[in-house]
Amino acid sequence: MDLELSKKSAAAKALEYVEDGMVLGLGTGSTANYFIELLAEKIKEGNLSIIGIPTSTRTKELALGLGIELSTLEQHQPDLDVDGADQIDAEFNLIKGGGGAHTREKKVATASKRFIVIADPTKLVDRLDWHVPIEVLPHSREQVEQKLLEIGGKPELRENFTTDGGNLILDTKIEIPDALELESRLNSIPGVIDNGIFAKRRPELVIMGKGEGTKVMER
Ligand code: A5P
Repeated sequence: MDLELSKKSAAAKALEYVEDGMVLGLGTGSTANYFIELLAEKIKEGNLSIIGIPTSTRTKELALGLGIELSTLEQHQPDLDVDGADQIDAEFNLIKGGGGAHTREKKVATASKRFIVIADPTKLVDRLDWHVPIEVLPHSREQVEQKLLEIGGKPELRENFTTDGGNLILDTKIEIPDALELESRLNSIPGVIDNGIFAKRRPELVIMGKGEGTKVMER
């Protein structure tokens, strides 16, 4: 299956949920980029006026370059957030942060009235088992690594990478028997800013692109 086409189809379907005058959370990553490009086309056609809230510097630059009006969470509450994911389980728990933007992505998703995830079929799994990206204050790296080892995690520093907030990412292999519990447990480690498990804030809808088609899944 053509994965790029699947991502594009999911992005195009998500556009059907956008209404004139909405404030939109704009996700980060290749699938979210397709959505932002299609959104900009529709705005240019003159059929739509929206305000975007970007979830990363990359997304901000892309959206600005495409002429999308932007704002911040302090000024606007998003009606809808559209973002990608690295893994999605049957209950719509997610792992995000492959692009290192999960902290801001979670803030925007949590503040949004509605959250839609767009993805290709490789992202759907029975059980989450991807490494969990954990954003960590640089001076706390060793203490956090130690704590992660104590709870059975295998942290690996993401090389040559700092987040938009100037922090580090520890990509951590760890068993996820209970996503909600692990999400809060990881965040309770001093020095951790946020981790890529989205169990507290799950999407209401997942749009899976399948080649030219899509499958809309609701919880
Ligand atoms: C960014 O930090 C991530 O959470 C992305 O949303 C996630 O990695 C999905 O990216 P792709 O759409 O590029 O697979």
